[in-house]
Amino acid sequence: MRSERSERSPERPKGVEGYKIAVIAGDGTGPEVIREGLKCLKAVSGKCGFKYETVEYDLGGERYKKTKELVPDSVLKELAGFDAIYLGAIGHPDVKPGILEQGILLKLRFYFDQYINLRPVKLYPGVWTPLKDKAPEHIDFVVVRENTEGLYKGLGEFKDKNTKNEIAIQISHNTRKGVERCVRFAFEYTKKRNKRKALTLCGKTNVLTYAWDLWDRTFNEVAKEYKDIKTDYAHVDATCMWMVKNPEWFDVIVTDNMFGDIITDLGAMIQGGMGIAAGGNINPEGISMFEPIGGSAPKYTGKNVINPLAAICAGGMMLEYLGEEKAARMLEESVMKVTGEKLKSLSAGKMGYSTSEVGDLVVQNLP
Ligand code: IPM
Ligand code: MN
Repeated sequence: MRSERSERSPERPKGVEGYKIAVIAGDGTGPEVIREGLKCLKAVSGKCGFKYETVEYDLGGERYKKTKELVPDSVLKELAGFDAIYLGAIGHPDVKPGILEQGILLKLRFYFDQYINLRPVKLYPGVWTPLKDKAPEHIDFVVVRENTEGLYKGLGEFKDKNTKNEIAIQISHNTRKGVERCVRFAFEYTKKRNKRKALTLCGKTNVLTYAWDLWDRTFNEVAKEYKDIKTDYAHVDATCMWMVKNPEWFDVIVTDNMFGDIITDLGAMIQGGMGIAAGGNINPEGISMFEPIGGSAPKYTGKNVINPLAAICAGGMMLEYLGEEKAARMLEESVMKVTGEKLKSLSAGKMGYSTSEVGDLVVQNLP
């Protein structure tokens, strides 16, 4: 998808061969799943003959507990010199919810202006879905979630806090620029994906009459430039309904940050759960970050039972964005073989294999 990779960052160290990947394994089971992702990356790079280098960053709950640091400015500067960021999971049971999510995950998304959150919802062979009578041919769509605006902008205020008359205001902030670049990405992506060539705008025009008016107008204007793409519109509540009842209707869905957050958890469930769901935080002109959608799963930490496939698939998405499309396809092919022929389940502890064995299986089944 990305064409001009090189010369982006003036801080890129000289003499580095291949891609430069920053690894933030993070908290809980993050390091275990990222280890398997890196194992697969190494194997596939050997087969495809591309080079890369990784540098690890210890951002996360442990570092925060020790030093109160989230992402120091010096690290942000360094990260700017990489081609991509590979992230495990952020979230620590001893740290108040919100601190690490906002201070690390959202911080990186905003700082690097990763304005797209790309989340494929694809049911792989052999994977159990809670949707009765649905098979891989019915569940294969992609959600393009706006990733830097909307309710996530953090705008709002309290009035008369801690009184009986308290008011809490949370603003959804949508700019024409932000909406348009997201919508354009979605059209281009639908075109490149070349499946059903259908793009659905998921919103709430009937109630949220400012934000979704802007989205709707922008979507329809940009649509005029893509005559070969079929477009339609669904309210977010109806989208949830169709995702369960008729997921085969979707090819690509574009939506705002909050709705995208919600519908992609539903999407993750119909594709077999958090063990398989991967996503990319993408800045097509900058530095993108790839992560399994699931959290740090503290209770499974260190047990070698968590499913690493989501992290492995996130690694595959990273390869695609680095321009290694063949390697990405090989990795996905292997994952599909492993789900189709080997694993009993995708759930932690029930796969029939350990975390590291699943990584080995993906390596062994590479074409
Ligand atoms: C996600 C997560 C994050 C989000 C949280 C952890 C801030 O739920 O990546 O979907 O809301 O975007
Ligand atoms: Mn979420």
